[in-house]
Amino acid sequence: MCGIVGYIGNRQAYPVILKGLKRLEYRGYDSAGIALLQEGQLAVHKKQGKVADLEELVAGKRVQANIGIGHTRWATHGAPNDINAHPHLSGDGKLAIVHNGIIENYASIKKDLIQKGHRFLGDTDSEVIAHFIEEIKRQNQCALEEAIRLVLKRIVGAYVIVILDCDNPGELIAVRKGSPLVIGIGKGEHFLASDASPIIEYTQEVVYVNDYEIAIVRPDELVLKNSSNEVQTPYIQKLDMELASIEKDGYDYFMQKEIFEQPQRIFDSLRGRLNAQKGRLTLGGLHQYMDAFIQANRMVILACGTSWHAGLVAEYMIEKMARIPVEVEYASEFRYRDPIINKGDVILAISQSGETADTLVAIEEAKEKGAVVFGVCNVVGASIPRVSHAGAYTHAGPEIGVASTKAFTAQLTVLVQIAIKVGYEKGTLSPSQYFNLLHALEQIPDKVAEVLKKDQEIKEIARKYEGYKDFLFLGRGYNFPVALEGALKLKEVSYIHAEGYPAAEMKHGPIALVEESLPVVFIATRDAHYSKIVSNIQEVKARNGKVIAVVNEGDDTLRELVDDVIAVPETEEALAPLVNVIPLQLLAYHIGVLKNLDVDKPRNLAKSVTVE
Ligand code: AGP
Ligand code: GLU
Repeated sequence: MCGIVGYIGNRQAYPVILKGLKRLEYRGYDSAGIALLQEGQLAVHKKQGKVADLEELVAGKRVQANIGIGHTRWATHGAPNDINAHPHLSGDGKLAIVHNGIIENYASIKKDLIQKGHRFLGDTDSEVIAHFIEEIKRQNQCALEEAIRLVLKRIVGAYVIVILDCDNPGELIAVRKGSPLVIGIGKGEHFLASDASPIIEYTQEVVYVNDYEIAIVRPDELVLKNSSNEVQTPYIQKLDMELASIEKDGYDYFMQKEIFEQPQRIFDSLRGRLNAQKGRLTLGGLHQYMDAFIQANRMVILACGTSWHAGLVAEYMIEKMARIPVEVEYASEFRYRDPIINKGDVILAISQSGETADTLVAIEEAKEKGAVVFGVCNVVGASIPRVSHAGAYTHAGPEIGVASTKAFTAQLTVLVQIAIKVGYEKGTLSPSQYFNLLHALEQIPDKVAEVLKKDQEIKEIARKYEGYKDFLFLGRGYNFPVALEGALKLKEVSYIHAEGYPAAEMKHGPIALVEESLPVVFIATRDAHYSKIVSNIQEVKARNGKVIAVVNEGDDTLRELVDDVIAVPETEEALAPLVNVIPLQLLAYHIGVLKNLDVDKPRNLAKSVTVE
């Protein structure tokens, strides 16, 4: 989902912006562009395609400048093409803007501007912003900052907009509402970006711009104002990420690196919280709201995509351990339903990026109706942690691959700690269950590491099935959401159609699909549903279906019955998703790579969906 980079200071702007756009490629995009201010003139270079294509376009041209803005576009209005790529210029060519998000009322504004004589080159909503600022500035004979403030009162939508003006060569102006913007604080220089990855190599001091704030960014000065034009004191935070965490470190893909990082990242998400020896579990963010959780009549989980699958696992965990009714909602559906929120409801919002527009708006809806919102997020300072009443961070580190892997297991790690802690405090989890779970949880990083050792074995299975066109993923209980997640991973990175289902549902329809050309992946580890899963596998085999089964080590019953087996270590039923998902991640990864696809940046996908 779109990337924005801006620079103003004593360096050459072009290399900073270009490298920054490359660091944001993982977010997904279709076009790229840059605007530089050179001797009072705006030089704009932009085109559909990759950042490398932009680099080729600019090669040999004069790029000397100390101020500039760059953009990677994920088209919402107007086809991906050179004209619709950002930056966009005002009619007089003196203003350049880049925009992330959607201007929902752009059509009426555009119509009005055309009647006033403006001519548009492209079809985007964003181009309207440049002309609108120009028109308001001219109409009111006011300064750029005032013109921007007036425009913000008239546009509707989500945005980060960065403006570069020939008549104000010593500053960049940036505004945000609903999309992320980070400003890096340097010495005699400032960096603007959609997230910290383009900034981290220059400075660790950053300011996260809040909704409705206007940032006037000069080489030596950052002025932040709120919507009432009052100067705010910038809250400078220290980045806790290193450059290494956004490099591939010798892996072929970020997705591969992030799959293999999981033992460490699960450990990191336990660190400072779990002390199994002492029987202690400490979740700082939960402490203050423990009563709200214990007395909750209901918990509503809001999330999208993989985070929604993590929410489904949490439903089983929380209902089992804390005996609190849980509803798991697609955030995008919840927000449009005028949902019923009762006093005493607790909202659990799960998001890797912390910027997913659907989840953000759903949270606002729930807050307006009086719910307590607890956020589980992977990005410090992101929008969702900032609008939540409390929360707990997953410590998965920056997840660059668009297909979420380590963030999913880190989410499960935090969610199961919440379920255990609330269950124990509430008394619905006995001391022995509590201690057993803590010890089992402590062993999960090693058990995940065990599964990763099967990588080559799983690659061979992937080689066998890469040519198939459809897959079914089936599981029961805690493994049902794992089946959904396995299907999503395969879809995302291999473009093969895959569906996840509760295994028992197969006989209510999907079994009609079963034939030799349909591989069925069963998660069939030992739990309360095991015997039923074996029956489901037999039903598929009786119809010549191919079966790949994730089983526990030593399960010779199934090894005889199915076509391919991936054995994983056994663990507590509630923790099994953390282990059982690993083979499915690797299967999807290897099939995608065998199909020569870019598993880090799958087509049409964005890492953070900041538009609704
Ligand atoms: C998962 O592999 C996808 N990238 C996508 O479904 C993602 O989980 C979803 O967009 C939610 O993102 P979030 O966790 O950042 O809110
Ligand atoms: N809505 C704008 C466009 O389609 C910006 C999209 C984005 O966030 O990249 O150009």
